[in-house]
Amino acid sequence: MSKVEVLVTGNLPAKAGEALADLFAVRRANDDLAAVRGFARGPGSRGDAPLLGRMPKLEIVASFGVGYDEVDVNHAAGRGIVVTNTPDVLTEEVADTALALLLMTVRELSAAERYLRAGKWLTAPYPLTATLRDRTVGIVGLGRIGTALARRLDAMQVPIVYHTRHARPDVAYRHYPDLLAMARDVDTLIVIVPGTPETRHLIDAHVLRALGSNGVLVNIGRGTTIGDQALVAALKDGTIRAAGLDVFVDEPNVPAELMALPNAVLLPHVGSATEHTRNAMGQLVVDNLWNWFDRRAPLTPVPETPWPRGG
Ligand code: NAP
Ligand code: 8YV
Repeated sequence: MSKVEVLVTGNLPAKAGEALADLFAVRRANDDLAAVRGFARGPGSRGDAPLLGRMPKLEIVASFGVGYDEVDVNHAAGRGIVVTNTPDVLTEEVADTALALLLMTVRELSAAERYLRAGKWLTAPYPLTATLRDRTVGIVGLGRIGTALARRLDAMQVPIVYHTRHARPDVAYRHYPDLLAMARDVDTLIVIVPGTPETRHLIDAHVLRALGSNGVLVNIGRGTTIGDQALVAALKDGTIRAAGLDVFVDEPNVPAELMALPNAVLLPHVGSATEHTRNAMGQLVVDNLWNWFDRRAPLTPVPETPWPRGG
C-alpha cells in the first residue's frame, strides 16, 4: 500500500523527522501538495490559509508546540480539518524556565554574572537586589503551565493569586476576574496565556501602572500579550522595576530599545528548549498523525476542532 503524503515544515527535532520519513511520504512546501492528507508543522513555520489552501485533501494539521497561534485554526475548522498541538509533555519544562526567569529578573542573576566576568567583583560586591521573600505573585493564566509554576512557588512559600476568564473551583488561590484589580494588589505578574486576539495587549500601560514602581513582569506565553511600546516606556521611566521575557512579537527580532535596557532579562524563547522535551513534543506530532491515519483517533485535538466532531 502506498504511503500517505504528509507535508513537513520547520525545524522539527531530528528523531521526529526520521519517524515521519519512515511512516509517510514526506513532502516539502515547494512540492506539489495536491495529494497531501497530513501536515506536520514544525518550529519556525506557519500553517496559514494560503498554505492550507494548497492542500485540498488535507485532513489533519499536527502542530509542534502547545500554543498554536501559528496555525489558521478557523480556516482548518471551516474545512473540517483536525488541528492537534503538543500539551502536557512540555508543562514541567516550561514551568522550570518560568521560575528561572522570575529568579533571574528579581535577583538580577544574569547582570550579576556579567559583573563577575567583567572583573568588577574585584573592586566591590554586586549591589543588593530585590527579593521574592516579600512579594505576591499574580499569575495571568492558571492553565497547565501556570499551575505547574504555582506548585513551585507554593514550595517556596510565595503567596499566589491569579487572573483567568473562568475561576477554578479546584484551587485555593484567590481569583481576580479583573486583571487591573489584581495588578493593583500584587507586585509581580507572571503571564502564561495563549496568543489569541483576546489576549493581544492584555498587559497594557494601565496594567503596568497598576503594578507599580516595585513591579516585576515575567512573560513566557506569547509576545503579543504585551504592548512592546508600553513595556519599553514603563521600564525606561520606572513605572515598573524590571521585566523577564522569553517571548517577543516578531521572533527572532527583539526591539533594539528592549535590548538596551538593563532592567530587562531577555531569553530567546527557550521555555521548552531541552532535548528531552523537544523530542517528546516531536513524538506527539508523529503520534497524532499516526493515530489519525491508522484509526481516526487524534490524541490531542485543540478545542476549536474537537474530535469526535461536536465532542
Ligand atoms: P492552557 O492549559 O490552555 O492554559 C491557558 C490559561 O490561560 C488558562 O488558565 C486560561 O484560562 C487562560 N486564558 C486564556 N485566554 C485568556 C484570556 N483572554 N484572559 C485571561 N486568561 C486567559 O495552556 P498552557 O499549556 O498552560 O500554555 C499556555 C501558553 O503558554 C501556550 O498557549 C503558549 O502560547 C505558551 N507557551 C510558551 C512556551 C515558551 O517556550 N515560552 C512554551 C509552552 C507554551 P481561562 O480559559 O479560564 O481564561
Ligand atoms: C515551542 C512554545 O517550542 O509550545 C509552545 O507553545 O512556545 C514552545 O514550546 C515553540 O512553539 C517552537 O517554536
